Amino acid sequence: MSDEPKSKNITWHGAEVSTEEREAALGQKGCVIWFTGLSGSGKSTITRRVEQKLLNGGVHAYCLDGDNVRHNLNKDLGFSPADRTENIRRIAAVAQLFADSGMVTCTAFISPYRQDRNAARELLADGRFVEVHVSTSLEECERRDPKGLYKKARSGEIPSFTGVSAPYEAPESPELVIDTEGRTIDECADQVVAHLRSAGLIGG
Ligand code: ADX
Repeated sequence: MSDEPKSKNITWHGAEVSTEEREAALGQKGCVIWFTGLSGSGKSTITRRVEQKLLNGGVHAYCLDGDNVRHNLNKDLGFSPADRTENIRRIAAVAQLFADSGMVTCTAFISPYRQDRNAARELLADGRFVEVHVSTSLEECERRDPKGLYKKARSGEIPSFTGVSAPYEAPESPELVIDTEGRTIDECADQVVAHLRSAGLIGG
C-alpha cells in the first residue's frame, strides 16, 4: 500500500492540547505495550491481567486483542502475509491514537513479522513503544492448544498457521521477554507493570 492518502483535499489538524498538558492532567504517559508471540503463548491472558492491575492502580489502560479486532475493524483480512501486514498496520494506527489520548494501550497480536512491528514502533515517540515478547515455545503452545488450532493446523485443516506452516520472526531486542513456562499469570503481569513503573510510564 502507498504511503500517500488516496484522498486529495484533506488537511491535517494539529492538536490544541499538547501531549505534555494531557499527560500532566492524567498523571500517566500514553504508550503502546506491544505483546508479540505465537498463538496460545498467553498474550491475551497476560494483557488482560495487566489491564486489570493497571486499572486497579488507577491507571487508564485499554487492550486491543487479536481475535476481537478481526471480528470488526479487520474482518476483511485473512492470514496471508499481506493481510497480516495490513492487520498490524491498522492496529498500530489505532494504538497510536489511543496512546495519543494518554492511554496505556496494550496490544495482543501474533504480529509475526519484524518489519511490521518496527513500523508500529516508528509511529510512537522514543520510549513510548514497549515491545514484549511472550516467548512461550512452540512445543508448549502446542501442548496447551487452548483453541484446538494446532491440532487442526497439523492435520492440514488450517493452512498457513503461525509456527507450523507460516513463519514467526522473534524480536531481536524487545524491551521485555516474558517466559510463561512454570510461572503464574500474575507473575507475568507483575513483570510488565514493574517495567512500566521503572520506565517512568506510570507513577508509583
Ligand atoms: S497476526 O498474525 O495477523 O498478527 P492475529 O494476532 O491478528 O494474527 O490473529 C491470530 C489469531 O487468529 C490466533 O490466535 C488464532 O486464534 C487465529 N488464527 C486463525 N487462523 C490462523 C492462522 N492461520 N495463523 C495464526 N493464527 C490464526
